[in-house]
Amino acid sequence: MAIPSNKDILWLKVLTHDDSEFARNLRNANNEYFHNSEEISIEQHNNWLNKTLKENPPTFHIIMLESNKIGTISITNHDDIATIGNVIIDKEYRGCGLGKRAMYIVMGLAISRGAKKIRLSVEYTNGNAQAFYVNLGFIERAVIMEKQCL
Ligand SMILES: CC(C)(COP(=O)(O)OP(=O)(O)OC[C@H]1O[C@@H](n2cnc3c(N)ncnc32)[C@H](O)[C@@H]1OP(=O)(O)O)[C@@H](O)C(=O)NCCC(=O)NCCS
Repeated sequence: MAIPSNKDILWLKVLTHDDSEFARNLRNANNEYFHNSEEISIEQHNNWLNKTLKENPPTFHIIMLESNKIGTISITNHDDIATIGNVIIDKEYRGCGLGKRAMYIVMGLAISRGAKKIRLSVEYTNGNAQAFYVNLGFIERAVIMEKQCL
C-alpha cells in the first residue's frame, strides 16, 4: 500500500449489495472491538444487509480512499441526537489520520440532518478507540453495567 497523503480524496459511499463481502469481512476481522464479538454468519449478515439497504436516509457507509474501500462507518439520527457506529479503518490504513477524516465527514452529515448532539459507544477495553474519540472532542457520559448470569 502506498502511504496515503492528505491530497488523496476520502469520501463516504452509501452501502450497496456490492459492498456486502467487504463489510462482513472487515467486521469479522475486528469483532474483538465490538460488544457482540461473535463471528457474523452469512445468514445473519444477509438479514442485516437487507434491512440496512432499505433505510432512508441511508445509515451505513463504506469509507473510500480514492477508489479503495478502507473502512466502514454508520450514522443514525433520532430527533436532534445522532449516533455514530461501526467505525472501522482497515488495519493497514490506520494511524494516517483517515479515521479522523471519516469522523469529520460523518459528523458533518449528522449535523446536516439536524443533530445537535452526537453519541457513540465504545468498549471499556478499547483504550485505542477511546483515545481516538477523546481526541475528536467526545467525553464520557455513561457507563453500561453488565452481569454475567450463566
Ligand atoms: C479507532 C480507529 C477507527 C482510528 O482510526 P485511525 O485512522 O487509525 O485514526 P487516525 O489516524 O485518524 O487518528 C486520529 C487522531 O486520533 C489519535 N489516536 C488514534 N489512535 C490513538 C491511540 N491509540 N491513542 C492515542 N491517540 C490516538 C491520533 O493520534 C490522531 O491524533 P492527531 O489528529 O492529533 O494526530 C482505528 O484504529 C480502528 O479501526 N480500530 C479498530 C476498530 C475499532 O476499535 N473501532 C472503534 C469501535 S468503537
